[in-house]
Order: sequence, then structure tokens, then C-alpha cells
Amino acid sequence: MIRIILIGFMGAGKTTVGKALAQELGVYFYDLDWYITMRYHKSVPEIFAERGEQGFRDLERRMLHEVAEFENVVVSCGGGTPCFYDNMDYMNSLADTVYLKAEPEVLAMHLRMGKGKRPLIEGKSPEELEAYVRETVSQREAFYSKAKYSLDVSLLDNFTKIQESVTLIRQMLKI
Ligand code: S3P
Repeated sequence: MIRIILIGFMGAGKTTVGKALAQELGVYFYDLDWYITMRYHKSVPEIFAERGEQGFRDLERRMLHEVAEFENVVVSCGGGTPCFYDNMDYMNSLADTVYLKAEPEVLAMHLRMGKGKRPLIEGKSPEELEAYVRETVSQREAFYSKAKYSLDVSLLDNFTKIQESVTLIRQMLKI
């Protein structure tokens, strides 16, 4: 039975790599933010606006408990998921957890290019964004580094990054 959970900061490529990995392995793919949106019929920014970050974290934890029980899945979670409650220990107890690690400059660059709405970084200038990423990554590192496996995606070649990540994850997990 395959159950892989990808963790890492916003902009690390969890969703892109997760989708490609699931496709290669022939298993289902879930993105936790999408799952939350589907279950609540609300976007992540809407949930933040209505319930605040704490309200979002409660829902996120509950939804994690649904998707992490599914079998034969690759799940990509939100950047903050591992850092609240006992979520990281919970994920480790059920799944092969993989930390997609990247340098703050690389993350900030991806986030500047990305179109997805992310309430925690909305309205930040490029300088503010990079400072926020640098500080938040360093706060979250203690949680992220609890993952069973870790892959530094900023070292990979830009053009083949997705395929290379998939191949390296399969090698690490021997699947
Ligand atoms: C968050 C990351 C987002 C989303 C929410 C909060 C975070 O997910 O869950 O905006 O705290 O880092 P992605 O990492 O998929 O962007």
C-alpha cells in the first residue's frame, strides 16, 4: 500500500511534484488545500477571511485526518500543515513523509511567479516576501525536518526538476 505525504514551504512544488508522482505510481492524488475547498465549498482565502488563521488550522487538521487515512495516495499538504497541533507526528505515524526543501530565494521566486492566492503573503513587496519566507522557513524547519525523507529541490536542474524529483523520491522510498 502506498501512502506518501509531501510537505514543505509554499512554492516548493508540492502540488506539481505530487501530481506527477501519483501519476507515475498509478495512485490517487490529493492536495489538502483543494480537498478543504471541495469539502467546504470555499477557497482558502475565504476561509482565512471568515474564520481567521486559527479557524483554518482547525479545519486543516480535521481534513488532514480524512485524507491521511486514504490508501494508495500521494497527498500534498499546505505549507503550514506540519507546524500545527501534532500533525507532523500524526503524518509520520501513517505515511512516508517527504520534505521538499528549497532555499528561501527559490521559494520567494516561485511565489512571485505563482498566481495562486495565498492569504499569508498577499500584498507583500518582493523584499517583504523574501524576508517573510526566510524568517518563516527558519521557524518551521524544526517541524519540516521531522519528515522521514528529505529532498533538496533547489539543487535540481530547473527544466527537469519535476521528473528528477519524482525519480529521486522513488529511489529514496524504493518504490
Ligand atoms: C499556508 C500554505 C498554503 C495554504 C495556506 C497557508 C502556509 O498552502 O495552506 O495559504 O501556512 O504556509 P501551499 O503551501 O500549498 O501554498
